[in-house]
Amino acid sequence: MKKLVIAGGTGFLGQVLARHFTRKNWQVIILTRDPHPPTFVGQPLNWNGETLGSWTAALEGAHAIVNLCGKSVDCRYHPSNRKQILDSRIAPTRVLAQAIQKLERPPAVWLNAASATIYRHSLETPMDENHGELGDGFSVDICRAWEAAFFEDNLTQTRRVALRTSMVLGHGKNSVYPILARIARCGMGGKLGSGEQMVSWIHEADFARAVEFAIDDEEISGTLNVTAPAPLRNSVFMRAIRGAVRIPFGLPHYRPMLEVAAWLLRTETELTLKSRFAVPAKLLKRRFVFYYPFVDEALGDLARNRPLGLAPLGPQIAHNFKP
Ligand SMILES: NC(=O)c1ccc[n+]([C@@H]2O[C@H](COP(=O)([O-])OP(=O)(O)OC[C@H]3O[C@@H](n4cnc5c(N)ncnc54)[C@H](OP(=O)(O)O)[C@@H]3O)[C@@H](O)[C@H]2O)c1
Repeated sequence: MKKLVIAGGTGFLGQVLARHFTRKNWQVIILTRDPHPPTFVGQPLNWNGETLGSWTAALEGAHAIVNLCGKSVDCRYHPSNRKQILDSRIAPTRVLAQAIQKLERPPAVWLNAASATIYRHSLETPMDENHGELGDGFSVDICRAWEAAFFEDNLTQTRRVALRTSMVLGHGKNSVYPILARIARCGMGGKLGSGEQMVSWIHEADFARAVEFAIDDEEISGTLNVTAPAPLRNSVFMRAIRGAVRIPFGLPHYRPMLEVAAWLLRTETELTLKSRFAVPAKLLKRRFVFYYPFVDEALGDLARNRPLGLAPLGPQIAHNFKP
């Protein structure tokens, strides 16, 4: 049985991966700060995300580590939140690197969350791992620091992959899809801003499959765009959302309205208005096959399979891990 350790695995993407790999008979261990985590898929193990401790024993002999830690960016970017967004990504990354260096049997591969938002606002030019141009501003600075921390140590026995993931469409808490679907059902699912901005996205099933693919394929290292091959304009994306929930019309949201709504909802318009045009050059070069290359099928699947996407695997899956 192969062992996978997921740091920050209690969240949306962590649970997508925990379900995927548990179904494949992997042993899945979840590093969490929560002393009483709710029942979820995987074996919870406490850490603080900052310092070495007894949790490091769980890494010994693991085949792969995936680190997904990070405070949600869905908040106002005031100084305190900015610091937490940065620290919650850098500290867990650094302490995992320290832990790996002390192991007798380090993992073959370590995948760290990163983000496709590292690329510049681009309306016309696709951004791949080789030629994509990095942007500037707060979110990009976070992404740069995050990747720099991930690659700063010399880990000779562990292959590293930074997952530059785009918006993952799924049913979990913290996924944007249920929110957009709800807005569309209320007849409010029109374009956001000009609607010209590109939307990069990936279905949760393909996210999990791409992570497994990157674990298996020893040729993959460095940065990896984890995103579907067919990004699209926001106006078209919102039309696809309306189609999935079968509401034929949707009121558009003009920029001033979005600014007010973002302030009221304690979030930032950058999350919806930045043009994200990432493409998965490396995955395609390595012949990864997407189950959901096009958004209509991806959204159709999510609209049809809502209960199944959340189905727990059974109580036997969640139990405490003793190192
Ligand atoms: N969802 C997406 O579409 C998407 C796209 C691109 C990139 N990403 C990145 O992928 C990662 C996972 O995303 P997600 O949607 O699964 O996020 P999520 O649901 O918010 O989960 C993040 C996890 O990080 C842990 N965490 C938060 N602050 C921490 C800290 N200070 N120290 C240690 N752990 C901390 C939490 O675990 P505990 O509270 O249990 O410790 C939580 O389960 C994030 O870094 C996110 O930026 C997500």
